[in-house]
Amino acid sequence: MAEKTWVRMVTAQTPTNIAVIKYWGKRDETLILPVNDSISVTLDPAHLCTTTTVAVSPSFDQDRMWLNGKEISLSGGRYQNCLREIRARACEVEDKEKGIKIAKKDWEKLHLHVASYNNFPTAAGLASSAAGFACLVFALAKLMNAKEDNSELSAIARQGSGSACRSLFGGFVKWIMGKAEDGSDSLAVQLVDEKHWDELVIIIAVVSSRQKETSSTTGMRDSVETSLLLQHRAKEVVPKRIKQMEEAIKNRDFGSFAQLTCADSNQFHAVCLDTSPPIFYMNDTSHRQVKIISCVEKWNCSAGTPQVGLFVCFSLFCLGQCASHSRSLTLKQVAYTFDAGPNAVLIAHNRKAAAQLMQKLLFCFPPSSDADLNSYVIGDNSILKDAGIEDIKDVEALPPPPEIKDAQRCKGDVSYFICTKPGRGPALLSDESQALLHPETGLPK
Ligand code: DP6
Repeated sequence: MAEKTWVRMVTAQTPTNIAVIKYWGKRDETLILPVNDSISVTLDPAHLCTTTTVAVSPSFDQDRMWLNGKEISLSGGRYQNCLREIRARACEVEDKEKGIKIAKKDWEKLHLHVASYNNFPTAAGLASSAAGFACLVFALAKLMNAKEDNSELSAIARQGSGSACRSLFGGFVKWIMGKAEDGSDSLAVQLVDEKHWDELVIIIAVVSSRQKETSSTTGMRDSVETSLLLQHRAKEVVPKRIKQMEEAIKNRDFGSFAQLTCADSNQFHAVCLDTSPPIFYMNDTSHRQVKIISCVEKWNCSAGTPQVGLFVCFSLFCLGQCASHSRSLTLKQVAYTFDAGPNAVLIAHNRKAAAQLMQKLLFCFPPSSDADLNSYVIGDNSILKDAGIEDIKDVEALPPPPEIKDAQRCKGDVSYFICTKPGRGPALLSDESQALLHPETGLPK
């Protein structure tokens, strides 16, 4: 190793993901091994991502990390497991220009600095830990010249947070639960890339930016210990659903995709209710969630007629009812899914369905009077133009959705909407100006 002080760094950007077949329950808490396979769609990192800079220098005297500008402890087991696993795979690095040579064995002694930044609220139910751990592992692998492919890296990210393993790829991703006791075969694989089904539009209604009350980790531990429904789900329901979902994605069969996505979200929340004590993710932080569900429930129940053209299968109660309308199923244009938080994730079949959905959402959930539309609908808000909405006046003039008889306008009930689409996997950022650490000191900029 060269004696003079140097800092070597790498910056990466990693997307978040939303599960359409949920992971809920571990068979091994330390290795983070799930009780069932899961499938997710990766969200476009342009709108939701984590950026992480990792640095190594002989001048660092301990491993340190800053998240969104604030120093956090790396002493937790999950960070330690990821750091140990990735260090074990580090290889020799040589940068002749800068006079840096790090031998494989040096990585054990060298300390790291990590700075990470989410472009969305941390712990608001938007899978920030997924993007965070995926980015940490991906960036460290590049810094340390590890030779593992993204599936092998996913098995390390998994040990930070289960859902993180699916953020190592773009498009649609499957986390194979695996059988091995050491977890070596519990990893993510890409089903299709983001171009395969690029007409999908994803709209997230962010209804609360507060910290969620029951973490996924605690919630799923309680479910594993107390819910009989979880056992039935893992053994009987998910294996079949995974196969059907893979087919639906391969064939871009939106009707089946939406039916499976909605059913799986509902079953996940049913497992939460079946847990002792019960977990209420959909309405424990606010009543806005209930309003979203009941609003869409009304569309749902009135959408049997072809002229409606928008069929959203949204509620725990209506699903069975709607499934019995075979004509309605063919009209399905939007799927919904809710994670361990109150935000609604809506997946529209195409831009036309998304524009119609946006009109209905904005009628029901207009921004508070002083809000600017461009900060209320963020991400790819070109969908507003498709919906004929250019400013607040257009929102005020929106007609009530015809299928909702007594549609109420609930101003300020949604904090904001994010419009996005399926996106790519992790990427390195070569432009040094995007680094979060100072190139000379290795401290946050
Ligand atoms: C509801 O991956 O956050 O979002 O593995 O304990 O870190 P840990 O849990 P986490 O759980 C995610 C649960 C979920 C469903 C999913 O993403 O599949």
